[in-house]
Amino acid sequence: MENARKVKSTYEVNHTELQAWVNQTADLLKPLNIRWCDGSKAEYDEMCNSLVEKGTFIRLNEQKRPNSFACFSDPSDVARAEDRTFICSRKKENAGPTNNWIDPKEMKQTLRKLMEGCMKGRTMYVIPFCMGPVGSSLSHIGVEITDSEYVVANMHIMTRVGKKVMDVLGSSGDFVRCLHTAGAPLEPGQPDMKWPCNPTTKYIVHYPEERSIVAYGSGYGGNALLGKKCFALRIASSMANEENWLAEHMLILGVESPEKEKTYVAAAFPSACGKTNFAMLIPPADLDGWKVTTVGDDIAWIKPGKDGKLYAINPEAGYFGVAPGTNEKSNPNAIKTIAKNTIFTNVAVTPDGDVWWEGLTKEPPKDLIDWHGKKWDPTSGKPAAHPNSRFTVPGNQNPAIDPEWENPKGVPISAFVFGGRRSTTIPLIYQAHNWNSGVYLAATMGSETTAAAFGEIGKVRRDPFAMLPFCGYHMGDYFNHWLQFGRDIPNPPRIFGVNWFRKDDKGNYLWPGFGENMRVLKWIVQKVKGKSNAVESPIGWMPQYEDLDWTGMNFSKQDFDSIMTIDREEWTKELLSHAELFERMYDRLPKEFIFMRELLLSSLWRSAEKWSLEPEVA
Ligand code: GTP
Ligand code: SPV
Ligand code: MN
Repeated sequence: MENARKVKSTYEVNHTELQAWVNQTADLLKPLNIRWCDGSKAEYDEMCNSLVEKGTFIRLNEQKRPNSFACFSDPSDVARAEDRTFICSRKKENAGPTNNWIDPKEMKQTLRKLMEGCMKGRTMYVIPFCMGPVGSSLSHIGVEITDSEYVVANMHIMTRVGKKVMDVLGSSGDFVRCLHTAGAPLEPGQPDMKWPCNPTTKYIVHYPEERSIVAYGSGYGGNALLGKKCFALRIASSMANEENWLAEHMLILGVESPEKEKTYVAAAFPSACGKTNFAMLIPPADLDGWKVTTVGDDIAWIKPGKDGKLYAINPEAGYFGVAPGTNEKSNPNAIKTIAKNTIFTNVAVTPDGDVWWEGLTKEPPKDLIDWHGKKWDPTSGKPAAHPNSRFTVPGNQNPAIDPEWENPKGVPISAFVFGGRRSTTIPLIYQAHNWNSGVYLAATMGSETTAAAFGEIGKVRRDPFAMLPFCGYHMGDYFNHWLQFGRDIPNPPRIFGVNWFRKDDKGNYLWPGFGENMRVLKWIVQKVKGKSNAVESPIGWMPQYEDLDWTGMNFSKQDFDSIMTIDREEWTKELLSHAELFERMYDRLPKEFIFMRELLLSSLWRSAEKWSLEPEVA
């Protein structure tokens, strides 16, 4: 049988180790044939056409949405499967308390059984891909094996793929092994599913010591596009810990001042908390001359340069962005970006072959097809688009793309920003006193859960560095790595906390957010340059009302106070709940954290019950 397997490639493969891995994998998975992806446009078009033929893709209206497609996933396969995600380090304690762990020997046996013949009736695609600009010393190469044309098409957009990567890999270069299967073999004559996946069995498995990944049963996003969360965050964070760099769940943006001075900022927000919006921000017209450009919207790889500065690249080539809530007002740059050459997954489709999602327009168009592929009933109370529906689009279509976004040297980072979704307690903006207190701020970041995460919606979950689902090793070691990293550089970036999501008693947002976030960003970049004023609060440095630029915005001192006040009772509760996180990793928790928590508590209790920037004078 094996001899009947056809191999298609437009280039020669001289990498014996890679070739051997591909052959062994094919022997076990038993695909009909093997195809080495070359990354050409013809290949992309062929994948899309074949997906249209199979009924997976709907070709959208060529006038309204040129060269774009929509598809609906299986209802069992709509988001990352955190409870099916495993870090299989040799020792359990190296995965730490925040990761699922199974002994790698046991996991390999389980997967071997599942993998046997799992690609029957399908083509096995081999995708050489590069995370980061091809040839950059900050980039790393992976090879993804998959039986999903949807994955091939998406990898074309999200990473750099094909022959140009093989040329860099040569005959002996290092690569991360990424094995993916939908887990849906086809017997002869068996009709295919529209969205191949395994509705009952899913595994997203990482072997950090081997630097390899095996994903079974899901075709969606971070579960299947293995360059993204699996490689660029989980495996890369573990590499970064060993090699003294950082792999982070961060957007990277550039801020240009009216004097054309450029400052780069990296910011971490948990999933579905506004990274894409912030990365593409358009400043209000009244802040004349200020401009924001995008380097990346989800992941940053950061390495120290010889000059002591930190340089960051976006390892990805495209955006896999949340669709719902994206509109002309909230994110005009995203709307322009997705005008063409876009794959939409789990959005609604209009009768004239365009797309729609909740929040795109006030009124939904008539006769929508919902993400189940059925006629949508607007009175059903169910959304037409899945809350985690997404667009996949090339980064170079972003009108705000930064000119340096593919610079192989990366861009110099001057500030780190951390922000969760918090309806109370956390102020709009504050700056940590120093690197260590900034690391504490980031480590204890919390966020109220959304559709992208598990658990009760609206409950605060600690999400250290927005990395809870993405850290490939012990979270306590990760904190220590960050502390040490700052000690080793002469003038580390300043660290800030933000919260766009504070609400009043009635549940309304107190801060308009989106473009107006520029006012906070302006204060941040000027603070880094020593040009912004601040006062010391119990938790760090904070701007007073007059320190932010309010030109053209109607926001009173009282309004500002309502999102900046530090309530002693609330903060005491907050600090007590940090202990819950710390207890889980007590054996590897930096000792500094215990002192810093004590320090925060005592400074809170030394100041007013409701610490305010404008203390009332008696
Ligand atoms: P992943 O791709 O899942 O990592 O997430 P992301 O951080 O890129 O999320 P995204 O940008 O898609 O988050 C969108 C959500 O954040 C939507 O619910 C937006 O309404 C909300 N959002 C973004 N910016 C703001 C803001 O400034 N204020 C408020 N209130 N909401 C915001
Ligand atoms: C996230 O969940 O943080 C994402 C989407 O960016 S996914 O790629 O599916 O992980
Ligand atoms: Mn993300």
